[in-house]
Amino acid sequence: MAPGERITSIDEVPERGSHLFTVSDPHGTDREVILVRCREDPGVRAWVNVCPHEYQRLDRGRGAAMRDGEVICPKHGSMFDTCSGDCDNGEAAGTSLTAVEIAVDDGAVYLADEDYTYRHEGARDDDDGPSSTSHIGF
Ligand code: FES
Repeated sequence: MAPGERITSIDEVPERGSHLFTVSDPHGTDREVILVRCREDPGVRAWVNVCPHEYQRLDRGRGAAMRDGEVICPKHGSMFDTCSGDCDNGEAAGTSLTAVEIAVDDGAVYLADEDYTYRHEGARDDDDGPSSTSHIGF
């Protein structure tokens, strides 16, 4: 069985930072997802690129900020474990990132989440209406 759409190779996921890509959700809305390294198998995780505290993008197009295996929210500085997605500090304490299912096969990372369809590498195109003002200016 094919594992799904190929996203990238594991080697392309930075040790510090993130690989940003865009998927389409069941409603046809584009969502950004980040791939980040994790110490546990299979070595990477995929999370929806949104801080659960205030809908802040974690990767604003240049890779998410990372420290000691945690993604740092650029807005209030809460840190999320790259393996579990959980946050136990700052404004976002008690929240978790939203997981996107992936599969790793022979060094390649595939989108394995039935809720999402792979669209393209990089940020979401900024063309879906007046609500998407969060990344104007980039
Ligand atoms: S928006 Fe991320 S910690 Fe507040």
